[in-house]
This record gives sequence, structure tokens and C-alpha cells, in this order.
Amino acid sequence: MRILLLTHAFNSLTQRLGAELRQRGHMISVEFDISDSVTEEAAALFAPDLIVAPYLRRAIAESVWSHYLCLIVHPGEAGDRGPSALDWAIDKGLPEWGVTVLQAEAAMDAGPVWASANFCLRAAKKASVYRHEVTQAATVAVLQAVERFASGSFVPQRAISSQWQPLMKQADRAIDWQLDDTATVLRKINAADGFPGVADSLFGQPCHLFDACVEATLRGTPGEVIAQRETALLRATVDGAVWIGHVKRARSIKLPATLAFAGESASVPYAPLLDWWRVPSATWQDIFYEESGAVGFLHFEFYNGAMATQQCERLRAALAWAKLRPTHVLVLMGGQDFWSNGIHLNVIEAASLAGGSAADESWRNINAMNDLALELITTERQITVAAVGGNTGAGGCFLARATDLVWVRDAAMLNPHYKNMGNLYGSEYWTYLLPRRVGQEAAQAIMHNRQPLTAQRALEIGFIDACLAGDVPAFRAEVTRQATELASEPDLTLRLAAKNGARLRDETIKPLATYRAEEMTHMHRNFYGFDPSYHVARHHFVYKSLASWTPRHLAIHRELGWKLP
Ligand code: COA
Repeated sequence: MRILLLTHAFNSLTQRLGAELRQRGHMISVEFDISDSVTEEAAALFAPDLIVAPYLRRAIAESVWSHYLCLIVHPGEAGDRGPSALDWAIDKGLPEWGVTVLQAEAAMDAGPVWASANFCLRAAKKASVYRHEVTQAATVAVLQAVERFASGSFVPQRAISSQWQPLMKQADRAIDWQLDDTATVLRKINAADGFPGVADSLFGQPCHLFDACVEATLRGTPGEVIAQRETALLRATVDGAVWIGHVKRARSIKLPATLAFAGESASVPYAPLLDWWRVPSATWQDIFYEESGAVGFLHFEFYNGAMATQQCERLRAALAWAKLRPTHVLVLMGGQDFWSNGIHLNVIEAASLAGGSAADESWRNINAMNDLALELITTERQITVAAVGGNTGAGGCFLARATDLVWVRDAAMLNPHYKNMGNLYGSEYWTYLLPRRVGQEAAQAIMHNRQPLTAQRALEIGFIDACLAGDVPAFRAEVTRQATELASEPDLTLRLAAKNGARLRDETIKPLATYRAEEMTHMHRNFYGFDPSYHVARHHFVYKSLASWTPRHLAIHRELGWKLP
């Protein structure tokens, strides 16, 4: 079938559905929901058998749904209606929630149901639930709906009963710091994370709060900021305290809290953690290390997978320390939602807002990423593994590839390319790491085509080493099992010798420093050169500017010479 994905943005759910449908032999094209007339034009060009809308922020025009069957992915159970479905479910602390695929018609979310799937609702950030449970359920439901449509015999039924839930307003989200307990504060911020955040104030300044995490021991006067640690601020509640990792100040962008309030937080006492070796059960800790037998596990929970200069430097220090441990295998776990998305574009943008230079901060950040990648590539005493449980993009993919083995959860999406960010050339030693895995030609194609890869596809082309099934806990259990097995392999010493020998040979042929210098020549041009494309693209990315057209590599129906097959 020809299936048009009509979407607000090419987010990870849209990427996953596109890849899954393509793998089942369908022809997929993408159109961003820019205006009714643009959608009408796209549909006329592509003449789809079916339109699937994974992520829309407004209704589909009658001129479109009356001509083509349009299936909407609604992040709510059958019968649920309204634009804040997931927000309400998290806010109410419901134990179970779902995704419904319904047919677009005049009344919003009221059309016949083509498929639905339910899941246990985790107490977590909305964006995290969206990237895991919602995406998984939506994939199951959309594939079933498409099969049902293809069968020609399925008759969709309307939900037996339905309930309209209004847009959740900031008044519904408001926190009363003198009344709300820690669990309520967490639930409210989670229900608004990553968008729109909870409107509140810090240091008497209005801002939106994101990225909350409970604190078990520190206490203070309810509502007051009582401590800081790295990028987070700790705020007391009536029965405990909550770390606020990110905030968005008025007319600004979402930033690490201590950076957004750099001046104000100067007088806030530090609550440092003294070592990496602990599992943070009830406090804020973005880097931590665990060990099990001869396997070390290094976790880095960076919000949105974005890695600013200092985060790279701290992670590199932790890695250097972990390399000295008496382990045979070192697993880099990344975070729950993302393994890494490369340099921190918001922090870079903030450098220019503060009167500094975004180019300088970009340069510092990519150098810190490269130092981290180098630390990984040159690990001699352990076999290194990247356990990619969440999505990863751009430089994050190549940081993962800097390990010896990359194991990816089958639901994760990889975007191992840079060009979408204003034609960025990219570094992280990708010119060394990528061709030796997939060959020169495939490396060029990956960079040029800018298509997301499913874990399965990445395995087929040799970019990764294993694709493991299951949700995040099951994936992590399997990673632990396989890493333990690897650490006890009788020929591990030989394996290490072979790896170090290969590295030495590669170094003789062309030193890593040369790869880096070549990449950084291009990056210098991206950051400081005449063409500002990277700065413009970054600006639009962090400010979430609305798209004015669909990129041509996604909208095949807009290719020159496109003809209906
Ligand atoms: N720096 C700062 N923020 C980043 C980021 C980065 N490198 N990558 C992603 N984010 C943020 C997004 O702005 C978004 O923020 P929000 O919480 O305000 O919504 C959040 O992470 C999730 O991103 P989103 O695009 O919705 O996630 P996705 O899973 O649908 O898509 C990517 C993943 C990787 C395809 C996409 O985020 C992307 O293109 N990121 C930029 C990668 C990049 O160019 N890095 C720099 C070069 S190394």
C-alpha cells in the first residue's frame, strides 16, 4: 500500500512507524502538518491508500478525511477524547492506559476505532511514557489497523462510551508548595514533562519546571530552594524535597536549572555526591556506577540525552576511573530514555543568549565529546559495550560505536547522521568508526540519506552487534546476562590482545589524531565559517520553530520527477 504519514514532526514514534511499515513492504512518504492546502496537495501527489497520523496537534481537514481514510493515533484508551490524554492519566495516577487508532471525522477523537492497545502506566515523565509504552502500543495498534484495512473485511466500531477531557491548563497543573506533598509535586511535573512544564517560579522569577526527581534525606522550608548539585536545584516540599533538573524561564529556552539561574543559585549550598559508586534510589545523580562480578556498568542519565561540555568532562572522568577497576567488561548504559543525542544544543544556544559565543561553546562541547570518545576507543583492559536501551542520535550514535560492541534494544531508533542540523559535518571519530563497520559506500549513504534506522536494520547493515528484545528492564537484565557471560569467556585475554593489536595497526595506518583533525576542520567551518546553516538550524531546533515545509528526503512524493507507480 501507499501510506502517507501526516505528522506535526518527524518524532521517534513517526520514525518507528515509518520503519515498521516499510519493513512490511508498504511505500511510505511523510508530510508535515503545515496547512490544510499543503496536506491536500501532498495527498493529491501521493494518492495514498491510507493516511496515518502518528502525531498531530490539530484536526485533519474535512477535505482530506472525506477523500482518504485517515487513521489517527490517540494516546488514550478507547473512548477517551481530548488533547491532554496522557497528561490527565499521569496526573490522576491511573494504573493502566492505552493507545487508540481511530478514523478521523468531524468530531475530534470520536471516529470508529480500528485498533487499540493497553499498557501499565509507569510513574514517570510524560515524554518517557510516550517514548516507551505509548510508542510500543501505538506500533502494535497501527500495524493491526493497517492489516485490518488491507483485509477489506474489517468494520470498525465506535467506542461504547466516550468522554471528552479538556486541554489541561496551567491552573490544573499548579503546585501549592505549602500544601502539595512530594508525590503530588512529582506527579504534576511528570504530567507536564517534556511539554509544557509546570508554570511556577524560582528565586521570585517566573519559569516552567521540568525533570523532577525525589530526594530522600535533605529537608527544608516548603517551597524554598535548599541545595544544588551539578545541574539541578533542590526544592523543599511539605514532607520532603524534589530536585528540579530543568527549567524554562520566560522568553527563554529549556535549560539545566543551575544554568538558567546561574546568578541566583550562586548562594545556594552545594550538596555534592562523593562518589559514583552507588545506585541512586532516592536522590538526583546523573552519573553512577555499579559492578557485578567482573562487569562494570556506567550509567549516565542526561535529560534528553543531550551532553554539554561539563557533562562530557564528568563522564570522561568517571569512565577513566571505571577503566581502573578490576573488571573484564565495561558496559556503558546511557539513560532510560536516550543513550545519547550528542552535543547539548540548548546549552550552546544559551551561550549566545548570555552574550557569549555559540561557536565557541560548540567547539568546546564537540572537543569534550571527542575526548570522551577517545577515552572509550583507547580502553585496553576491558571489552567495552554500549547498551543502547533508548533512542540515540547524531554524535550519540558514534559515541556508542566507539565501544567494542553495541547492543541495542529492538524498539530503539538510531539516527547515525548529522546533516539535519544545518549540514553539520560531525565528529566523534565517525570517519574512523563508521566505514570500518559498514564500508565506505554504506557510510556515505547513511550520512547522505539521513534516515532513521531500526535496531534490526542497523544490525543487518553491520552498524551494531546485537539487537535484544523486551522492555527496558528486560533489556537490561539480558545485557547483564550476556556481559557476565562475555566476562567469563576463556579466550577473553586473546580477545583483548586482538582488539589492542587491531587498534595499534589502525593507528599506524592513520592515527586517530588525524581523523579528529580532519573532522574538526569541517566542524570549524560549520561553527565559524561564512555559511551560518548550523547556527540557524540549531536556533530553530531549540526554539521549536514550526516547520514551513517537509524535508525532501522524507517526502518522496515531492521529489522531482515523482510519478505514481
Ligand atoms: N541537545 C539538546 N536537546 C536535545 C538534543 C540535543 N542534542 N537532542 C534532542 N534534544 C531534546 C529536544 O529538543 C526535545 O526537547 P523537549 O524535551 O523540549 O521536547 C527532546 O530532546 C526530545 O527530542 P525529540 O526530537 O522529541 O526526540 P525524538 O526521539 O523524537 O528524536 C532525534 C530524536 C535524535 C532524532 C532528535 O532529537 C534530534 O535530531 N536531535 C538533535 C541531534 C543533533 O543534531 N545533535 C547535535 C549534533 S551531535
